[in-house]
Amino acid sequence: MGHQLLAGKKGIIFGALDPTSIAWKVAVKAKEEGAEFVLTNAPVALRMGKIKELAEELQAPLVAADATSLDDLNQLLDTAESEYGKIDFVLHSIGMSPNVRKNRAYTNLNYDWLIKTLDISAISFHKVMQLLYQRDLMNEWGSILGLSYIAAQRTFSEYNDMAEAKALLESIARSFGYHFGRKSKVRVNTISQSPTPTTAGTGVAGFDKMLKYGEKMSPLGNATADECADYCVMMFSDYTRKVTMQNLFHDGGFSSMGIASEILEEL
Ligand SMILES: NC(=O)c1ccc[n+]([C@@H]2O[C@H](COP(=O)([O-])OP(=O)(O)OC[C@H]3O[C@@H](n4cnc5c(N)ncnc54)[C@H](O)[C@@H]3O)[C@@H](O)[C@H]2O)c1
Repeated sequence: MGHQLLAGKKGIIFGALDPTSIAWKVAVKAKEEGAEFVLTNAPVALRMGKIKELAEELQAPLVAADATSLDDLNQLLDTAESEYGKIDFVLHSIGMSPNVRKNRAYTNLNYDWLIKTLDISAISFHKVMQLLYQRDLMNEWGSILGLSYIAAQRTFSEYNDMAEAKALLESIARSFGYHFGRKSKVRVNTISQSPTPTTAGTGVAGFDKMLKYGEKMSPLGNATADECADYCVMMFSDYTRKVTMQNLFHDGGFSSMGIASEILEEL
């Protein structure tokens, strides 16, 4: 049982694919904390993933939506509106790069794929917020979150064009945070999470080594998907109402480190 931190709150959770997904863990915890929400993912994820099982288990409405399609997103918002009226929280937990998927080197990008990477992984965040804003569907003191990675700000040689997507995502959070704050006191933030073994995470070249490196560099160790879900719940709760336009590191201290004895010993 949770602490009912989200009692009475309604939301939308994007991106639960299977039980390893960060969004899956957020959905389970948000339910324990008293929230109600619509689950959504791309049509292909509904066919190939396990989100239907999650929706049944949590008795949550499930809507297929490609997050790059304004039509799909409008239909998703129609469902959320008819279920709840206005909503209190949104989790954007979406990432995909065709260049990463197809092992294109950063120095040999396919630019059509780069545009897709940016549209799916970053511009979709703007699209969701623009529709919520224009349709006036967020309650006052609502909370909107995206998930980022430190490669937005520092060079991680294997992260490819997802680095550009995350930099754009973090910028959109700041820019829209201004407009949504002024309009209806809604906060917008990104959480910059440790490497986490999920479908998207393990698709990055050298993921296992990045995980081990993160573990050695972070004084508290890598943050797990479960711990990320706890942080998301706190960000949706009323205990963080004045936190906005921030990129919040959730990485066991990794982002403040330069070098650690544990790494020196290996060299
Ligand atoms: N796993 C990590 O190491 C890590 C670290 C930092 C940040 N993140 C971020 O966390 C978020 C969630 O990823 P995850 O690690 O839980 O992996 P995941 O693979 O479980 O989730 C990614 C989700 O994006 C969805 N998606 C892809 N294209 C879509 C589209 N067009 N429309 C709607 N949904 C679409 C997928 O179906 C999937 O559910 C992503 O933004 C990811 O970049 C992950």
